[in-house]
Amino acid sequence: MKYTHNNNELNHKHIGQTVYLKGWAAKVRNLGGLIFIDLRDRFGITQLVILPSNKNYDTALKIRNEYVIEAQGKVIERESKNLNMSTGEIEVEVSELVILNTAETPPISITNDTDALEDTRLKYRYLDLRRPVMQQFMMKRHHITQAIRSVLVQEGFYELETPILGKSTPEGARDFLVPSRLYPGQFYALPQSPQIYKQLFMVAGMEKYFQIARCFRDEDLRADRQLEFTQIDIEASFVDQNDVMSTVEKVLIHTFKEVLNVDVTPNFPKITYQESMEKYGNDKPDMRYEMLIQDYTDFFKRHEVPLFQGKSQVRGILCDQAATLTRKRLDALTELVKKNHGEALAFIKKQEGVYSGSIAKYLKDECLAKLNIQEGQMLFLVPGEFEKVSSGLSALRIELAQEFKMIPENTYKFVWVVDWPLLEYSEEEGRYYAKHHPFTAPVDPEVLKNDPKNAMAKAYDIVLNGYEIGGGSIRIHNQEVQKLMFDTLGLSKEDIETRFGFFVDALKYGTPPHGGLALGLDRVVMLMTNTTNIKDVVAFPKTQSARDTMMQAPSAVDDLQLKELEIKVGR
Ligand code: AMO
Repeated sequence: MKYTHNNNELNHKHIGQTVYLKGWAAKVRNLGGLIFIDLRDRFGITQLVILPSNKNYDTALKIRNEYVIEAQGKVIERESKNLNMSTGEIEVEVSELVILNTAETPPISITNDTDALEDTRLKYRYLDLRRPVMQQFMMKRHHITQAIRSVLVQEGFYELETPILGKSTPEGARDFLVPSRLYPGQFYALPQSPQIYKQLFMVAGMEKYFQIARCFRDEDLRADRQLEFTQIDIEASFVDQNDVMSTVEKVLIHTFKEVLNVDVTPNFPKITYQESMEKYGNDKPDMRYEMLIQDYTDFFKRHEVPLFQGKSQVRGILCDQAATLTRKRLDALTELVKKNHGEALAFIKKQEGVYSGSIAKYLKDECLAKLNIQEGQMLFLVPGEFEKVSSGLSALRIELAQEFKMIPENTYKFVWVVDWPLLEYSEEEGRYYAKHHPFTAPVDPEVLKNDPKNAMAKAYDIVLNGYEIGGGSIRIHNQEVQKLMFDTLGLSKEDIETRFGFFVDALKYGTPPHGGLALGLDRVVMLMTNTTNIKDVVAFPKTQSARDTMMQAPSAVDDLQLKELEIKVGR
């Protein structure tokens, strides 16, 4: 290639050299004859200067923002240096200049601080992705993917693909279905994950597998959730829980060092599911700050408060500085707790040595003193059932940590959540659901058989800064236990046969013990690039309302296509 440098490379050491550059005109300024062009590529910006005496001056006059150009010239020292840019000491005095393509005025400004609305950005995503900040996201995503791949290859994992057109795998979300033309009325399902296939790889003797796998789940979108996303899907044979965890730690430690130059210590801390629910109110604890949930149930059994009468639990959090919160803010926090299933929010604060707050009047000072509320602190209390209290307080804890800036920046706190219940009981439906998925091994199959409610799972989730970045388990490799699991989940013999017959069959033919995990790549990238919006790190994401506004998908299809599929669309 004729080009000599990328646009981030030139500095004072290159002064005097003739260089050949290409890129987009990010900014064009005509300063009384001299024309300056900021030439941008995916690496950075170099300033070009075109003198009025240049034979290409007329060409330069035509250049507008986002024109694609190439230029040859000499590196010279800049008069007014910009030390904030890597190329800020120099500029290139252009001798040759060619316009490779013109551009209309773009509908969004190609700058980091664009004020375009998200819908517009997504509609013109190819322009949005030109913005340097987005280019950084994509570059990091690439580096992270390569780093992860390289560790797994080094550790002896085969990178293998599995079908996209398959049969529904139960991961708890709705499936995306694809109608079959050859078998009208029948459907493929897009994989919610390659779970069954990767287990079949273990039956097939591959021993160690990974895949950078696209997954599809028809569920409500959130800031950390897309309809289609990418997993780093891992499975290995003859392993126990610690083996899988140590492989995943290796992957993460290497990737953080390689991409961010951040040292992460092995043997990540572990917390049980139960403890996480008790202290953090959720199963993805953010360990970057304290302010843990405490149990006040016994205290309020001894000291009566009408709001807490007859409630199975009263738990709360004690928050520094919160005594100054206004009435309006407290109302908003109460709403937040209620939105997250908490019944009510009560508070007691201490200011200038005096206790006050919604329930302080029911308690004498000497009994308030036992609550250990320090000057300036507020104690927030939520009564009710364990799950609902947890959920309300979890949301409140996160909100307060943000409000009082308790979350340290550039800190990465990994934690394994272990000792999960195997099943979850739905009162409404009167049946059990698998807490992870139905292929997760019980710690003791006898307990699954005799006391399913108390069955524990060989499952583990990896959490980073309050986000679940991965989940996995040791799997059931025994046909009878797998049948028992399906049975406990309320599947009839026929259901088992039609939905999973092939899989139960496969388990008959010498299945090794095996287990694995899947990391959510998009979430890992999101956290490693310090954004809280998954859309930032997905090249072409869907909007919050699940649309691709650029391609206009989903969209109606031709009648002929529907006819071939024998599908009638009701209107
Ligand atoms: P799980 O359902 O926990 O496990 O998914 C693994 C990880 O994938 C990420 N993830 C998502 N990321 C973005 N958008 C979504 N809609 C989304 N859903 C999940 C999360 C999650 O931790 N088959 C099992 C893995 C196994 O057992 O090996 C599975 O899919 O980071």
